[in-house]
Amino acid sequence: MAALKLTDVSFTYPDGIQALDRVSLSIGEGERVALVGPNGAGKSTLLRIMAALNIPAEGIVEITGERLTKKDAERLRRRIGFLFQDPDDQIFMPTVWDDVAFGPINMQLSADEVEGRVARAIHMAGIEGYEQRVPHHLSFGEKKRVAIAGVLAMQTPILLLDEPTANLDPQGRRDLVDVLKSLPGTVLIATHDLAVAMELAKRVVVLKRTILFDGDFGTLLENPAILGSANLELPPLCKLLAEWRKRMGKDFAIPQTVEEALEVLMRS
Ligand SMILES: Nc1ncnc2c1ncn2[C@@H]1O[C@H](COP(=O)(O)OP(=O)(O)OP(=O)(O)O)[C@@H](O)[C@H]1O
Ligand SMILES: [Mg+2]
Repeated sequence: MAALKLTDVSFTYPDGIQALDRVSLSIGEGERVALVGPNGAGKSTLLRIMAALNIPAEGIVEITGERLTKKDAERLRRRIGFLFQDPDDQIFMPTVWDDVAFGPINMQLSADEVEGRVARAIHMAGIEGYEQRVPHHLSFGEKKRVAIAGVLAMQTPILLLDEPTANLDPQGRRDLVDVLKSLPGTVLIATHDLAVAMELAKRVVVLKRTILFDGDFGTLLENPAILGSANLELPPLCKLLAEWRKRMGKDFAIPQTVEEALEVLMRS
C-alpha cells in the first residue's frame, strides 16, 4: 500500500491561478523522495494537499490507503508531520519548549512521554538551551530549527518537509540530513538544494505545475533538457565531473557524492 497517492490531482486557487495540473504520484511506505522544481512550480501546494490541509476539487488523494475528504481531513492529518516552508506559519507558542511540546500534548501522551519526545526532538534539531526562549524573537534559521523539532516530536509515520534546509547553517544542514537519513518513515522533501536532495533520496520528482520527471537522480543528472526547464543547476561536484568526462572522453555515471567522485577519479 502506498503511503501517499495522488491520482489526476488538479488545484486552482480562488483567484484563478492553477497551481497543479493532473498530477499523479505514488509514494511507498518508508520511501524517501525529493520534490524539486522552479519557484511557483506548485511544490508547497502539493505538500499542503498531501498534508490534508488543502483538498483539491479535482482528483483523488489517498493517505495510507484512505481517501481524503473534507470529513476525514482532520483525522488523516494526524498521520503526517508537515514542515511549512515559512516557520512563522508553524510556531506560535510563548516558549520554544511549549512549541515543540504542542503536538505531543495534543496527542494526549503522558507527561513523561511528552518530556522525552521534546528533549529528543530539541537535541535532533540542535537547539538545546533554547527551551525557554521566545520563538518570535529567534533568527529565521533558529525558528526553522524549532519548527523542525516540533515536527520530529510528533513521530508521525509520514514526513512532508517544505524546504527544510533553507536558511540552516552548513553544520545544521549536515545534521538535519543525518537525522532524516536515520528516520524509518516515509519522507517527501521539497527543496531547491539538489545536493541535499541527492543525499537523502534516490527518487526525484520534478514538478512544474505538472510532473516533468519521476525517476532516479542518476537519470535526471544526465537530462539537461529537464534540468533546464526546471531551473535546476547541477551541484559543482557533478558539473565538474560531467565536464571532465566530456573532455577526457570517459564513460561513467555522474557521481552524486564526494565518495563516488573519488572512486571515479581513483579508477581513471
Ligand atoms: N494562497 C494562494 N493564492 C493564490 N495563488 C497562490 C497561493 N499560494 C500559491 N499560489 C500560487 O500558486 C503557484 C504555486 O505556488 P507554490 O507556493 O505551490 O510554489 P512552490 O513550487 O512551492 O514555489 P517556491 O519554490 O517559490 O516555494 C504560484 O504561482 C503561486 O503564486
Ligand atoms: Mg514552496
